[in-house]
Amino acid sequence: MSAIDITGLSKSFGPTAVLRDVSLQLQAGEFVAVLGPSGCGKTTLLRCLAGFETPDAGEIRVGGKLVAGPGRQLPPEDRGIGVVFQNYALWPHMTVAQNVGYGLRIAGVPRARRDETVARTLAVVGLQAMADRRPADLSGGQRQRVALARCLAAEAQVVLLDEPLANLDVHLRGAMEQEFADFHARSGATMLYITHDQAEAMALADRVAVMDRGRIVQFAPPQQLFREPQNEMVAGFIGEGRVVAVEDLTPVAPGRAMARFLGQPVALRCTPAERPRPTARIALHPGDLRLGGTEGVPAVVTRTSYRGGHLRAELAAGPARDIALTLNLPLAESGAATVARGQTVRLALADGWVIPEPSSSLSS
Ligand SMILES: Nc1ncnc2c1ncn2[C@@H]1O[C@H](COP(=O)(O)OP(=O)(O)OP(=O)(O)O)[C@@H](O)[C@H]1O
Ligand SMILES: [Mg+2]
Repeated sequence: MSAIDITGLSKSFGPTAVLRDVSLQLQAGEFVAVLGPSGCGKTTLLRCLAGFETPDAGEIRVGGKLVAGPGRQLPPEDRGIGVVFQNYALWPHMTVAQNVGYGLRIAGVPRARRDETVARTLAVVGLQAMADRRPADLSGGQRQRVALARCLAAEAQVVLLDEPLANLDVHLRGAMEQEFADFHARSGATMLYITHDQAEAMALADRVAVMDRGRIVQFAPPQQLFREPQNEMVAGFIGEGRVVAVEDLTPVAPGRAMARFLGQPVALRCTPAERPRPTARIALHPGDLRLGGTEGVPAVVTRTSYRGGHLRAELAAGPARDIALTLNLPLAESGAATVARGQTVRLALADGWVIPEPSSSLSS
């Protein structure tokens, strides 16, 4: 039984279709990120799940129970779902302990049991010492932990998080990422984590659902999104990917193909279903290119930038110099750059993924 089972979900605001036939199944205890550009419908999906929006079509089951569907719309408090918002949504006049125990008090849980639960959940998020503080006297990260403790205290088996780190600075984000991972490991909750930050999604999630204009375009583990993007949107969105054209695509073995890139033969990865095609588009990452000595595709260095342990080079290839590529290069022992702006180099493709044709793409 899936912890969350969404089928055929659609939602429009006026004439605008914001969710289009969204289906998504989460296993119990899974950590899933929903990743996509601003406005693609992520928050609307979360609000439908939590019960703050009524879908136009489709069904949502939580733990096998129908919570939304034709003729049925369970209120948020009956869904067993906890929500952590970007702005924390804590009661400012209550202490940390009162915020965490609020839901239990409303539900009529006796005082002693309530206190015990609050103490236990504050310990889980490491806030025992701050039980008597008010939200105004906490950092952003600590407030976010109070919101997590509140989900735990309510015994939410499903926790939805809507860009919970967006208001935090970059150092705190890294620390909070670890907190979410720890929270997930300790609570065993099923987590649906919404973000438009791909690094966050890739670092945290077992699987990532990439959304584009109201649809889920790929749902896969992070490595697979990176290595085998199903369309150009995913290819360009994940891992600084570039999409370029190749010619004479010829499968040579299951999952392997040859093609020509600017006249040079290249070996590529592809789906086992791939067929010969006169042209195709491939996804490349900065790590897929090498300097190729005297062989390889000529390209002009248009920009270099220092990136800690390596040099990032932007290049322009093709007869019209209109094909933009990115390459990571080791620095010289002295730390100096190994290529310079304006220099012509030769590039070899060490790896690349043939983006499947829409009709043959594996829907997952
Ligand atoms: N209540 C509403 N009424 C009308 N339009 C809405 C409403 N809520 C959302 N929208 C529209 O639906 C689209 C999707 O919004 P949504 O908030 O789901 O996007 P998002 O993916 O969460 O974006 P972001 O990353 O910016 O938070 C947007 O175009 C938004 O303007
Ligand atoms: Mg949003």
